[in-house]
Amino acid sequence: MQHYIQDIANFVDKEVTIKGWVQNIRSSGSIAFVEVRDGSGFVQAIVSKNNVNEVVWDSVQKLTQESALELLGTVSTHPKKIGEFEIQVSSMTVVHFAKEYPIAKKEHGPDFLLDNRHLWLRSKKQWAVQRIRDVIIGAIYTFFRDKGFVKIDTPIFTPNACEGATELFSLDYFDQGSVYLTQSGQLYLEAAIMSVGRAFDFGPVFRAEKSKTRKHLTEFWMMDAEMAFVEHEQNMDVQEEMVQSIVATCLKNCSSELGLLGRDIAPLQAVSEPFVRLTYHEAVEKLQKLGSTIRLGDDLGAEDEELLTKDSRVPVFIHKWPKAIKPFYMKQDPENPELVLNNDLIGIEGAGELIGGSQREDDYDTLFAEIRKDGLEGPEYDWYLDLRKYGSVPHSGFGLGLERLVRWIAGAQHIRETIPFPRMINRVKP
Ligand code: 4AD
Ligand code: MG
Repeated sequence: MQHYIQDIANFVDKEVTIKGWVQNIRSSGSIAFVEVRDGSGFVQAIVSKNNVNEVVWDSVQKLTQESALELLGTVSTHPKKIGEFEIQVSSMTVVHFAKEYPIAKKEHGPDFLLDNRHLWLRSKKQWAVQRIRDVIIGAIYTFFRDKGFVKIDTPIFTPNACEGATELFSLDYFDQGSVYLTQSGQLYLEAAIMSVGRAFDFGPVFRAEKSKTRKHLTEFWMMDAEMAFVEHEQNMDVQEEMVQSIVATCLKNCSSELGLLGRDIAPLQAVSEPFVRLTYHEAVEKLQKLGSTIRLGDDLGAEDEELLTKDSRVPVFIHKWPKAIKPFYMKQDPENPELVLNNDLIGIEGAGELIGGSQREDDYDTLFAEIRKDGLEGPEYDWYLDLRKYGSVPHSGFGLGLERLVRWIAGAQHIRETIPFPRMINRVKP
């Protein structure tokens, strides 16, 4: 029999069995306060010398942080804190006495914590961030399934680049020469939607990006979505609705995690309002007025993204970028061949780019020319071009960086806290 801390409100005045770990312990004379964690939550267990036998009391004296235990006790409401509960312990067995735990309550530097990531995951804030991550993943699946999307699993070994050849990890693949670790499943989803109409994938992607920032990982989780017969504006509508729906789910299901992280939820609540949509030209003009040195044709730097969103209550779409600085697959704007029908979605509160999306080039000759222009020609792109030979239709899609979204919603300083075992240019361990 095992009860979970998350259900404890249903057991007031009743007996429960809790199996977990010692998060913290303090003791004063004939009473010990053991904060127990069982994965589903945290609870204070109170052991009084008078209420337990001698063997139990002896082992309580020896308990260390992270020791594992099973306890039996009666649930009571917390005398001061509304909505909190305690357990009056009647019996306890120690499953394992933990050695002295390296992560103490004092402050540790990030390198020490990352070296001990396998243990750091147990700390309260890290627990909360991983729970929020899980809720976000669930919310994404629910959103797409409700809209009739089919999950299509795209490959990780790929013969062709999706997002620029300079950021590829390559490896030798038997006698087939070099292959790459995928940067995005997009191209494969484009093939799949000609079968299933609307599709999404969700998996790890890899970027040999030399960026050492609070927003970059070399391995991260991407959710790509793709839709047949959907054009540029409608593509942004879906992105907006998806982000709003994820945030609403987190507000509903993660209040204790957000509270534990000290996250101000007012900015999250405001996201239910319509998002701002600026063309690239409008964005550059606005940035120049705000004092940025950006010029037409430049990519937006991290500072530009922050400047542009600093007074915005909602995320900002920047759409119709110059073709010259975007990948080959984006569709030319019929009103201006120098531009493409794409968008980035820039988050508020310094979240940076959360999503990149576009309508895809569906004309064979134009796409062929763009692939050649990018120096990517070769048989690896034949299959992708084939899609423009047999029933080519307007279609659009986008990719969401999961960790960017988790970072923003959880209010985490650094992206390394949003993935269980982060991979960055200077770290692949543990
Ligand atoms: O903008 P990106 O490069 O777009 C694509 O890969 C498209 N093929 C997606 C598509 O249309 N299906 O990447 C998408 C998102 C970014 O907006 C950002 O949130 C995230 O992936 N991202 C990163 N996250 C963490 N670390 C990195 N190095 C990232 N690079 C991109
Ligand atoms: Mg991008």
